[in-house]
Amino acid sequence: MRKILVVGIGAGNPEHLTIQAVNALNRADVLFIPDKGATKSDLADLRRDICDRFVTNADSRRVEFDVPVRAAPADSYRRTVDDWHAAIAEIYERLIRDELGENGCGAFLIWGDPALYDSALRILERVIERGGVQFEMDVIPGITAMQALAAGHKMAFNRIGDPFLVTTGRRLAEEGLAANAGTTIVLLDGQQAFRSVPDKNATIHWGAYLGTPDEILLSGRLGDIEDEIVRVREEARTEKGWIMDTYLLRKAEE
Ligand SMILES: C[S@@+](CC[C@H](N)C(=O)[O-])C[C@H]1O[C@@H](n2cnc3c(N)ncnc32)[C@H](O)[C@@H]1O
Repeated sequence: MRKILVVGIGAGNPEHLTIQAVNALNRADVLFIPDKGATKSDLADLRRDICDRFVTNADSRRVEFDVPVRAAPADSYRRTVDDWHAAIAEIYERLIRDELGENGCGAFLIWGDPALYDSALRILERVIERGGVQFEMDVIPGITAMQALAAGHKMAFNRIGDPFLVTTGRRLAEEGLAANAGTTIVLLDGQQAFRSVPDKNATIHWGAYLGTPDEILLSGRLGDIEDEIVRVREEARTEKGWIMDTYLLRKAEE
């Protein structure tokens, strides 16, 4: 039976890799490295660096593959994502069937942790359901961007005994801050949704390129700092051609 290892590689610093992840990468015959296009080539480079630095298994091979670009949502966001996942599932199936022997072991290098806003596990389940190739799966957890954010700002996610919510920029813009959580952590925000938060006394802890040499950290009262974050974010995005940022919003203490 083929074996697929879904390995969390951390959020930007090669030293985020756990010993379990290093051992998993060294168990694999084939390392599958996604390439999301020129603007994100830095991310593919980081995956290559990780392999260069930690993979000592001289018999393993690297296979790079193109990830199709997601279409702009037409009538339904869910349907667009579903079509996109179906296209990626075909690619995963082909890779697993054609690149691995009957008892081969392959590893997918997943940004951050595979359980947090990542579709690889759902897509691999889809491949299993399609029945075109059979395999077993193991998941190796990784350091997430939100952990790198909290570490960068030297803070805990939650206030004492208080829950926190993890959400996306789109949902923050639609729904605002959660009523039952003092802290909201936001990923996947291409629209800088923090600007739509009416409570300007909330604090924001923002981070971009976390864990990398280009890491930027800013924090303060939302009303005081939101324009600066917008400016810094735009300058960095223009200079590098891409940006990944994450932030934590906290309501003022009652
Ligand atoms: C598709 S999600 C993947 C999250 C990932 N699985 C994790 O565990 O962190 C991508 C989002 O994660 C956040 N992110 C990932 N890496 C980051 C980094 N190095 N710096 C800042 N944000 C990052 C950004 O909000 C980005 O839009």
